[in-house]
Amino acid sequence: MNDSIFYITVVISILLGIILTFFIVSIVRYHKRYIKLQRERIHAEITIQENERRRIATDLHDSLGPLLSSVKLQINSIEPAAKEDEKIVTKAGQYLDEIINNLKEISYNLLPKTLQRKGLSEAIREFIRNVRTRQPISIDYYQPHALLLLPEQETHIFRMIQEIVHNSIKHSGAKNLEIAIKREKKDILILTKDDGKGFDAEKIKKNSAGLGLKSIESRIEILKGSYILQSAPDKGTSYFIRIPFIENPGG
Ligand SMILES: Nc1ncnc2c1ncn2[C@@H]1O[C@H](COP(=O)(O)OP(=O)(O)O)[C@@H](O)[C@H]1O
Ligand SMILES: [Mg+2]
Repeated sequence: MNDSIFYITVVISILLGIILTFFIVSIVRYHKRYIKLQRERIHAEITIQENERRRIATDLHDSLGPLLSSVKLQINSIEPAAKEDEKIVTKAGQYLDEIINNLKEISYNLLPKTLQRKGLSEAIREFIRNVRTRQPISIDYYQPHALLLLPEQETHIFRMIQEIVHNSIKHSGAKNLEIAIKREKKDILILTKDDGKGFDAEKIKKNSAGLGLKSIESRIEILKGSYILQSAPDKGTSYFIRIPFIENPGG
């Protein structure tokens, strides 16, 4: 009697164990799949967004830009007889200058034409020059060799550098920021270091509503790379990003 109770208990326990294991495995699997789908969705969004930005930036720059410049030329060639008309023409010219400048800025933010036309190194140098004129931070850029990357890689790397620079300016209070991009065997290494106040990266990544760090992470994943973010309160912030090198056949 005792024996059969024992066996029944064992069998039920084993069955319960199997059912429980099955549930746990299913939940873990489901969770993993959910995270994978989530990642793929973010990657697709970033890629679509970049393509759209490229298209709009090109349209603005190549069609609207020249059109506005020729309107400006036309306005400049007007020789008004009356004083009142002269004022109106001058004012119109000033508005037009403002529109042209805004357009340049919008199209730069969408996608710097330097990146499309002259490549990553020039675009980063130009971006740093622009930042320097407006912000009290010293930025060093070191790039010992030509990089010869694919346009898609260049765009992602440019966006990451932009975000890292903006974060250093906006959040760290750093005086110095060093950026280096170099080839090492089959990889591209991107190293950055600011001497700002640093932050608790793990905690912030979990709790922050900001999209900057998330987008850096997603872009590294899209490029099949890896990274280490070293930051601690009062220690400054450093990124070590490694991206497999794929030579640009056309570059
Ligand atoms: N270089 C840095 N120095 C200090 N804190 C930083 C730095 N980079 C990021 N952070 C912290 O991480 C948070 C999240 O950054 P991010 O995802 O780019 O979002 P956002 O810049 O929109 O706040 C920032 O709000 C800031 O607290
Ligand atoms: Mg940010």
